Amino acid sequence: MSWTPESWRAKPARHIPEDYPDLDHLAEVEARLRASPPLVFAGEARRLKADLAKVSRGEAFLLQGGDCAESFKEFSADNIRDTLRVMLQMAVVLTFGAAKPIVKVGRLAGQFGKPRSSPVETIDGVTLPSYRGDNINAMAFTKEARTPDPERLIQAYSQSAATLNLVRAFTQGGYADLSNVHAWMLGFVDRSPLGAQYQAVADRISEAITFMKACGVTSESVPQLAKVDVYTSHEALLLGFEQAMTRVDSTSGDWYDTSGHMLWIGHRTRHLDEAHVEFCRGIKNPLGVKCGPGMEPDELVRLLETLNPDDEAGRMTLIARFGADGVEDGLAPLVRAVQASGRSVVWSCDPMHGNTLKASTGFKTRPVDHILSEVRQFVDVITSEGAYPGGVHFEMTGQDVTECIGGAQAISEEDLSSRYHTHCDPRLNGEQALELAFLVAEKLSDMKADKAKLRAAG
Ligand code: PEP
Ligand code: CO
Repeated sequence: MSWTPESWRAKPARHIPEDYPDLDHLAEVEARLRASPPLVFAGEARRLKADLAKVSRGEAFLLQGGDCAESFKEFSADNIRDTLRVMLQMAVVLTFGAAKPIVKVGRLAGQFGKPRSSPVETIDGVTLPSYRGDNINAMAFTKEARTPDPERLIQAYSQSAATLNLVRAFTQGGYADLSNVHAWMLGFVDRSPLGAQYQAVADRISEAITFMKACGVTSESVPQLAKVDVYTSHEALLLGFEQAMTRVDSTSGDWYDTSGHMLWIGHRTRHLDEAHVEFCRGIKNPLGVKCGPGMEPDELVRLLETLNPDDEAGRMTLIARFGADGVEDGLAPLVRAVQASGRSVVWSCDPMHGNTLKASTGFKTRPVDHILSEVRQFVDVITSEGAYPGGVHFEMTGQDVTECIGGAQAISEEDLSSRYHTHCDPRLNGEQALELAFLVAEKLSDMKADKAKLRAAG
């Protein structure tokens, strides 16, 4: 049972490329990464764990979101700023609906590698390795582009460092001031075809801010109002990279993966006795596990026992991704089993990965109304089992892309080709993401009202 940062290498590992033409080159790159500075600090990961512990107790709500796959091509300050901006606006709306602090975690600064349904892709009779994310190979359909190149790990590391630097500047340097975020939101309410529906909430937030100002609570008197914590996360997929970023924290003597604050185990790699679970059990960061079709209740409980033997609050976030058609039947038995085990978890809803379909125009897409329906059912299932629906997990961007259909802009299948930029799965655009935040806030606020009614009825 002894763990080391490399003990995963003795276990079966899925979705890690083995076709590097020069394994010595890969080892040399991993050595360079081992000698490179950490991207995040252990103390920050501990702070996130404490925040998530609050979520697990129902005292806060988790908002996790960002790209499906970051790319080298779409890397720019504007893109990062715009995604952050939408996340911050969503957080304000959700704060209002949940009446609780929102823990903000980006899928960014390291979310590159992707598990693929097939290791190869065939076009017009030509078969090549699948694209696996910019930190492994390139998207162009040529043998050269699809051959894994270890130097890409270094480029992904550098891009993550630059992204994180910008995130820290934006969130600590005044840009994230609550009144700024609110002003952006008013712009959205004006523009949105469904603006009238959101006006009431926006007005009440305006009133609250005016009231606070009248009481002397401004970002000058309370500097926290101008700062927010945005943590980073990605799927712990490429274990060679993760191992290289794993260091002993001098304060606690524990191992932390310093590539991101939170790491999650994907739906395709969550097998007990395999490499990804083995690696993650030894690092002290907060962990996520995707829970989807095919997961058995006792398998989930055993995963919790393996990954969190001491039942530490804030350590485990269970990210349900069943799809709008599967959530009712799929999720309830898992929640029941976790409730029966008495273990502390955060339940979060990823309404993206179970709702992917192919449009008649050939594009991979997701209907906004299926996404919303999954979130609503998630809240209902979790609450009816006596647990707390603690968060949402979205693939989104601040850009005005056309990748998911529906929403107030009524993006149609024909519209998809106009601005379809994703390197992997279809993302919500800025307006769709914010719309969803309003709708989720409404659902959370209804849930609060129902609870109050139940209490009043005694
Ligand atoms: C993802 O989050 O991008 C992903 C691949 O999800 P899942 O593992 O749930 O399919
Ligand atoms: Co995805």
